Amino acid sequence: MRRNKITIIGAGNVGATAAHWAASKELGDVVLLDVAEGVPQGKALDLMEAAPIEGFDCNITGTNSYEDTANSDVVIITAGLARKPGMSRDDLLLKNADIIRGVSGQVARYSPEAYIIMVSNPLDAMSHVAMKATGFPKNRVVGMAGVLDAARFRTFVAMELNVSVEDVHALVLGGHGDTMVPLARLCNVSGVPITNLISKDRIDAIVERTRNAGAEIVNLLKSGSAYYSPAASAVQMAEAILKDKKRVIPCAAYLEGEYGIKGLFVGVPVKLGAGGIEKIIELELTPHEMEELNKSAKAVKGLMDVLKM
Ligand code: NAI
Ligand code: 2OP
Repeated sequence: MRRNKITIIGAGNVGATAAHWAASKELGDVVLLDVAEGVPQGKALDLMEAAPIEGFDCNITGTNSYEDTANSDVVIITAGLARKPGMSRDDLLLKNADIIRGVSGQVARYSPEAYIIMVSNPLDAMSHVAMKATGFPKNRVVGMAGVLDAARFRTFVAMELNVSVEDVHALVLGGHGDTMVPLARLCNVSGVPITNLISKDRIDAIVERTRNAGAEIVNLLKSGSAYYSPAASAVQMAEAILKDKKRVIPCAAYLEGEYGIKGLFVGVPVKLGAGGIEKIIELELTPHEMEELNKSAKAVKGLMDVLKM
């Protein structure tokens, strides 16, 4: 039986941590690729040497060559520049678009059947760049942000109520930025709406903290951005595809009229399984939520305009 093959492009903080989570979950063999010579090889070998202690059986290979990534089932793209303090996600746009175009072309060449999970920022626009550069169908290119943003929302609600994070359910729609749309109305603790449990002022503060959660980490770290939770989010998506879990989770998906949005990647709830994005789930939103989602889509459209796409 052939093991699944997961390639992670970019062996920096998010990429190497994703390799760690993927290996510890035994999702398959992992190939870590980076332009920096020695870095992916060193990190892969170090992780392999943890296997006897942690007890996972999978091969982790580091490389600078796309030939080693051939026939991957899932490719997680984390290559690019990370956000620095004072730098907006959008500042990264043009530099990362060039990198993603190059990376995606190689992915399509060596793994024409792969599913792509885009992490590199700004990920809504980068997913679009990857879809165009690979020519892959829309179900095979999915952006990671909603899982992370919802996890942050869930963390803050669990901290507020001193309950298990596992029992807190939340959805965050829209782009991954200041315009994201955390749906407080649908957030609940084992089915009990948080609007029954937390005051409006505190919910507003939690929503605001969720919107700024990426920047909060950047400001603490001083150099670089979050990586444990982003890597865990990308690996959860890879697991949903590789194990055909049919998870219902928020992801950046290419919309063709859903939610009244056309021709853009925007964060919406999807069913994620062996067919990649198997379904885009259309929720009934309030007029205010719809307005916020449109604002978010407009921000993504602004990026695509800069990229002239
Ligand atoms: P990092 O700087 O630690 O790692 C990036 C890696 O990409 C470096 O090792 C670099 O050598 C490599 N790289 C650069 N150009 C490359 C190319 N052409 N081919 C292959 N590798 C290349 O950055 P980190 O923290 O891992 O973040 C990676 C990306 O993920 C950034 O764009 C960051 O903004 C984004 N990000 C997105 C999140 C999301 O929610 N979607 C969350 C966290 C990070
Ligand atoms: C984050 O939200 C930088 O997008 C990254 O942490």
